[in-house]
Amino acid sequence: MGGYERTSDRMRPDGCTHTLLVRPHEGQNLRDADQSLPVDPPVTDEVARRPVGGDETRAANRAWWDGEAEDYYAEHGAFLGDAAFVWGPEGWTEAELDLLEVRDGMTVLEIGAGAGQCSRWLSRAHADVRVVASDLSMGMLRMARRIESKTSDAGGGAVAPSGRALPLLQCDGLALPFADATLDRVFTAYGVVPFVADSAAAFREAARVLRPGGRLVFSTSHPVRWAFPDDPGPDGLTVTSSYFDRTPYVESEAGVVTYAEHHRTVGDLVRQVVGAGLVLVDLVEPEWPAGNEATWGGWSPLRGRLLPGTLIVVADRAG
Ligand SMILES: C[S@@+](CC[C@H](N)C(=O)[O-])C[C@H]1O[C@@H](n2cnc3c(N)ncnc32)[C@H](O)[C@@H]1O
Repeated sequence: MGGYERTSDRMRPDGCTHTLLVRPHEGQNLRDADQSLPVDPPVTDEVARRPVGGDETRAANRAWWDGEAEDYYAEHGAFLGDAAFVWGPEGWTEAELDLLEVRDGMTVLEIGAGAGQCSRWLSRAHADVRVVASDLSMGMLRMARRIESKTSDAGGGAVAPSGRALPLLQCDGLALPFADATLDRVFTAYGVVPFVADSAAAFREAARVLRPGGRLVFSTSHPVRWAFPDDPGPDGLTVTSSYFDRTPYVESEAGVVTYAEHHRTVGDLVRQVVGAGLVLVDLVEPEWPAGNEATWGGWSPLRGRLLPGTLIVVADRAG
């Protein structure tokens, strides 16, 4: 009988370690000897750089994040904080950078919010701001709900000044269920952008729902990291592939795509943001802070001191 074998631990561009499962193609000799036996379709479990479309990307990433929600929180929850707003593995917070410039009276949407830590911080830091945390994955939103009850009054934690629970919304960052020009801020920390085949469409969608003068801010792994192995140690300092190779990173099991990440250069992202009708305000490449000794996947103090690990793009809709 065939069985899944654990063959290797791989590191993805997003820094999540992944155990690749491979089913051995046993029975091959028997089939060669007796062509009358039914032939199973080939099992292709693979990790590759290859083209993948939007629908496959969405289906794969939704299922993958549903399944990953518990482990992601177990691995990174302490670093992120239940009600903190961290822009990336460098550890810089919105309280320190104020890139969103959220002010009283605003309406804010987080896309790719995961367990909603950033939105939770915003809703507690600002007495008079409406914040909605959205994500494609119901598993991630369930984790958000769990954190919410853990940190509510009953759990002994702080609550939003409004006293309301954080509103959670399941939606694709490519199809936001909001009317045109209704939001003041749209943002994501490491969500959506690398997980969609068409990031230009994601920026157009954000621009559509932003009011004139509104702001989009997103962080993502710095595109230059795609040229290097995702290794936190010295091996992660040597270029092994072209920065200009936009071919997506794709995992599949039994021929079904289970995970996909898409690469764009810095220039691509800038052109897409500007093409969406937004005005580029800043490209932030946060430096690795001296006090941060944490390793997150391929992000480490060693690499962080030498190479940018995160890119944060700040863009406004013209007023
Ligand atoms: C690396 S996690 C980041 C989560 C959170 N922002 C954080 O900092 O922990 C990426 C998130 O993007 C979400 N995501 C992926 N594709 C998406 C899409 N098309 N629309 C909305 N969210 C998406 C995933 O479900 C996941 O929660």
